[in-house]
Amino acid sequence: MITQSKKSFVNYSKEGNPTLRLSSVEIILLGRWKGLSNALLTLHKNQFFMAKYNEERFKSETYMLLEGVVEMEVSGYRRVVEIGEVIDASSYKETVSFYGETEATFLMKIDAEAYEEHFFEMQMLQKEAEEIESLDGYTYHHCDRIKNYTIEVWKHLDMPGDTQSLIVLRWGAYFHDVGKRMVPIEILNKPGKLTAEEWKIMKTHTTEGAKIMREHSVEWLKDAAHIVEQHHERHDGKGYPYGLKGNEISLEAAIVSVVDAFDAMTTDRPYKKAYPIKEAVDELKAGKGTQFNPKVVDAFIEILESKQFKWK
Ligand SMILES: [Fe+2]
Repeated sequence: MITQSKKSFVNYSKEGNPTLRLSSVEIILLGRWKGLSNALLTLHKNQFFMAKYNEERFKSETYMLLEGVVEMEVSGYRRVVEIGEVIDASSYKETVSFYGETEATFLMKIDAEAYEEHFFEMQMLQKEAEEIESLDGYTYHHCDRIKNYTIEVWKHLDMPGDTQSLIVLRWGAYFHDVGKRMVPIEILNKPGKLTAEEWKIMKTHTTEGAKIMREHSVEWLKDAAHIVEQHHERHDGKGYPYGLKGNEISLEAAIVSVVDAFDAMTTDRPYKKAYPIKEAVDELKAGKGTQFNPKVVDAFIEILESKQFKWK
C-alpha cells in the first residue's frame, strides 16, 4: 500500500515494492515524487514495449536507459538509445516502441495518478491470467504468443496504435479463452471426440468469457469482451456463437482466430502431434476467405516470413 509521508518522496512500501511481471517487461514501483511515479522497468531480451503520450491517461511519461542495448522506433524510424539518454514519450505524437537487444533497465517516470491505477489493475489481471494458465491443457506460453502475434498483425495492418486500443487488444487476446473456466474440466480434458452435448457446452466458452469481461471490476475490459465473444466466428459465417460473417466480425477477433488456429496446429496436444510450420501455413492459406479473414492471413504470413518462419 502507498504510505503518505511528510517528505515529498512517497515510498510505496517498506517490505518489497509492488512488482508487475509481464512476459516482456517487469516493472517495480519505487515511489512517488512530485506527482510522478518512479519505477524500474526491465525489458527482457528480444521483447518490446510501447510507450506513448496519451492526454487522457498519462500527462508525462519519460524513460531513462540505465543499462542494456535498446533500439527505439517512432514513425517508422529506428535507432539505438544511448545509456543515460532520457526519452520523453510525451513529446511524440506517435507510439514509441522500445526493443531489447539485450535485457535492459529503464528508470520510468510517469504521471502517478493515472499510472498507479493502471499498474494495480494490471497486477490484478496478471493474477487472473495465472489462474487461466493453471487450467489443464492450457499454457501461459499459448496465451502469450496469441497476444504478441495479435498485436504484430494489428500493427502490420496499420491499425490505430494508441495506448488504449493496444491495451484492449492485448487483454482481449490474452483472455480469449477465459470462458473455459466455466466449462467442466472433464470436457476440457477429454482425450477423445466430444459428444454433441459436450461440444455445445464447450462452445459456450465464447459467450461465458464475454460475460466475465463485461462484469469484471476493471471497467475497460468491457471494451475487449467482443474479442473473446467472436474469436470462433468464421469469415464465411459458419462459426459460433452467432454465425457472424466477414466484416460483421471485429478485426481484433479475426486476428485472434488466425493466430489461435495457427498456434493450435503447431503445438502438440494430447490427441494430436504438432504440424510442421509449412503445413500449418498451407492450412491457413486453404482457409482464406472461408474460415479466416483473407487480409489477416496475408498479414500473418508476411510476419512469419519476416521471421524466417520461426515460431515460439
Ligand atoms: Fe477458444
